[in-house]
Amino acid sequence: MDIGVFIPIGNNGWLISTTSPQYKPTFELNKEIVQKAEEHGFEFALAMIKLRGFGGPSEFWDYNLEAFTLIAGLAAVTTKIKLFASTAVLTLPPAMVARMATTIDSISGGRFGVNIVSGWAKGEYDQMGLWPGDEWFGYRYDYSTEYVKIMQELWEKGSSDFKGKYFQMNDCHMKPTPGSKVEIVAAGQSPVGMEFAATYCDYNFVLATGVNTPTAHVKVNEQLMAAVAKTGRDVGAYVLFMVIAEETDEAAWDKWQMYKDGVDAIALAWMADQGGKDETAADGSTAKTINLPDQAVNFNMGTIVGSYATCAKLLDEAASVPGTKGIMLTFDDFVEGIEKFGAHVQPLMACRAGKLAAAA
Ligand SMILES: Cc1cc2nc3c(=O)[nH]c(=O)nc-3n(C[C@H](O)[C@H](O)[C@H](O)COP(=O)(O)O)c2cc1C
Repeated sequence: MDIGVFIPIGNNGWLISTTSPQYKPTFELNKEIVQKAEEHGFEFALAMIKLRGFGGPSEFWDYNLEAFTLIAGLAAVTTKIKLFASTAVLTLPPAMVARMATTIDSISGGRFGVNIVSGWAKGEYDQMGLWPGDEWFGYRYDYSTEYVKIMQELWEKGSSDFKGKYFQMNDCHMKPTPGSKVEIVAAGQSPVGMEFAATYCDYNFVLATGVNTPTAHVKVNEQLMAAVAKTGRDVGAYVLFMVIAEETDEAAWDKWQMYKDGVDAIALAWMADQGGKDETAADGSTAKTINLPDQAVNFNMGTIVGSYATCAKLLDEAASVPGTKGIMLTFDDFVEGIEKFGAHVQPLMACRAGKLAAAA
């Protein structure tokens, strides 16, 4: 079971609250987090791309760095951990992203991969004049498919003459090609997103839901596995959880309650409004999930709250769900959280024993 960290490239991480740790994203902060993750044997770190915050008193995600440039810096100060940057496909042409990826492959010595974001929040793109119209919701994965095909062709052959509906390459050259395979991942939750991942990606991130309900991603994994059965490829699910771990269950629950008490309702309302803009959104898609009436203080992200032993037990249960190849973690306080996880939780996790022993 792989473990990764979803690094806080945006302010306040994933807690939409005024009583959670309040901090701005910096290179230094993310460097400390990724270096600690590497020390504790994490297999990967992922930087999302988010181009407009949600506002509100916590100014949620109003401060965000850019994923490729951040990851390029992190590649230079790490040695083992695999790094992923996200491309919002509406913002960057695939031939440029292919070259950026090749550059980071070179900086990192083959530890780089790309997360394909077809997106769900119109406001992020509209503000830049990059919104192609609401029809986008209907063809975003067809567009992403051409996008990935072009990048893969450039990486494999160093040139592309691809002619598609959305992109036309004219003897496009890109050398050098990367020294290692650049993995492609996605985080599509909709049926068409799952099909895309099953066809083109190396794995797909999935959302768990609820608090201390570690097997809630059974159904979404089944959907992914059904899509994968059709393509016959090896595409696993990497499930996302927030971990709030303390010495005792009580202390962890107190923290969780404190964050919930400070929920930033204004920021949440912006998120729900954005989620509602895709009138064609399928059940289970990001737009729908994000628009649920009980949106929690952390996006309804699957949350694990408790003592170190409780967290280890629940994460082992999460890992046992068929199709799960990895777990990606967020924390309330990332620096403290990774330290506690690495020192106290991970050593108790049966699903990590093999990897840790192999690394020792
Ligand atoms: C682990 C993970 C990473 C994600 N990264 C991003 C991101 O970088 N930017 C973004 O706008 N949405 C991100 N999302 C949300 C959606 O997955 C993404 O917008 C996707 O393209 C929506 O597709 P869907 O409608 O198939 O769910 C992420 C979700 C997860 C679970």
